[in-house]
Amino acid sequence: MMNDKSANEERLMADTQLVRDYLATVPHQTSLDADQREGLRSKIKTLLQEKRAVLVAHYYTDPEIQALAEETGGIVADSLEMARFGRDCDADLLVVAGVRFMGETASILSPEKKVLMPTLEATCSLDIACPIETFAPFCDEHSDRTVVVYANTSAAVKARADWVVTSSIALDVIEHLKAKGEKILWAPDRHLGRYIEEKTGADMLLWDAACIVHEEFKAKGLFDMKALYPDAKILAHPESPSSVLSMADVVGSTSQLIKAACDLPDKTFIVATDQGIFYKMQQLAPDKQFIIAPTAGNDATCRSCASCPWMGMNSLEAMYDTLLNENNEVHVNEELAEQAMKPLRRMLDFSQQKQIAVKGKA
Ligand code: 13P
Ligand code: SF4
Repeated sequence: MMNDKSANEERLMADTQLVRDYLATVPHQTSLDADQREGLRSKIKTLLQEKRAVLVAHYYTDPEIQALAEETGGIVADSLEMARFGRDCDADLLVVAGVRFMGETASILSPEKKVLMPTLEATCSLDIACPIETFAPFCDEHSDRTVVVYANTSAAVKARADWVVTSSIALDVIEHLKAKGEKILWAPDRHLGRYIEEKTGADMLLWDAACIVHEEFKAKGLFDMKALYPDAKILAHPESPSSVLSMADVVGSTSQLIKAACDLPDKTFIVATDQGIFYKMQQLAPDKQFIIAPTAGNDATCRSCASCPWMGMNSLEAMYDTLLNENNEVHVNEELAEQAMKPLRRMLDFSQQKQIAVKGKA
């Protein structure tokens, strides 16, 4: 029988190949000089205005894209807030700079808006590793369990779920379901699943997939880095391996990590998540130092080096082309969208009730 280590290595190699194959099929970005970039930024701004369009960007996208979203009345946010903002904003057209599940979620929640993405090729290793063809029978086999899926999944997988959650609300939802005595089937990220299981003590059956970016962070390297920066606090996204999470001072979604970076009195932070997040951390806490957690060291494969290859596909050139030609429209099958809307709405209603409850206590 294969031991855990070699099974893990085999999966890592398969994931590496998956990313390489995928990236080989998409056009390489050209490098633009400063004038060309400024020209594109200005043309994008004009088009956004003319088309009553809003740019909704994730914290992992290129800092230039994040800045553009902020300068034009759009938003830079985590996946939960992106979904909420896209639904509630007054626009005819949404340009979602992130990965495909974010565009699909926007389209499901805002059927009256046209949703475009700079590229429809930008997927996510979690989405790829949880195809509906194998996920649906797995759910059928365990029909006694409440199906909770992470937002990083296809519309078809969401449509099969009872609940959708993002990392900023996953713990609260599972606590809520556990209190009702429900047993959980969780997919797809096993690290996040295990983290929630440990925190809540809920009965959780985990699907076996991982994020190729967060799985790269190494506990040994982190330990060595901590020796170099003994006063630093460690911030980690829960898609990281448990050995990394156990060393973290704060574990949370992208927005929760940014909040911790601002609120904690410490001056130095080692951050285990995609380095695109540094743009916002540095903007909100300019007097603090942020260091990326190590992805190198023993056993390093460095397939991503703390930078999501799919988020990186959101270039200025692609965004301009998309806005100009209104191509790369996100389409979700109507029946699937209707089904997926139910668990998505459940998540948004739950998060709203939670906010009201928190405010009520303040
Ligand atoms: P957040 O929901 O924390 O923004 O995370 C999305 C994601 O893809 C993390 O890798
Ligand atoms: Fe998916 Fe990981 Fe990229 Fe997030 S960072 S979009 S989980 S591959």
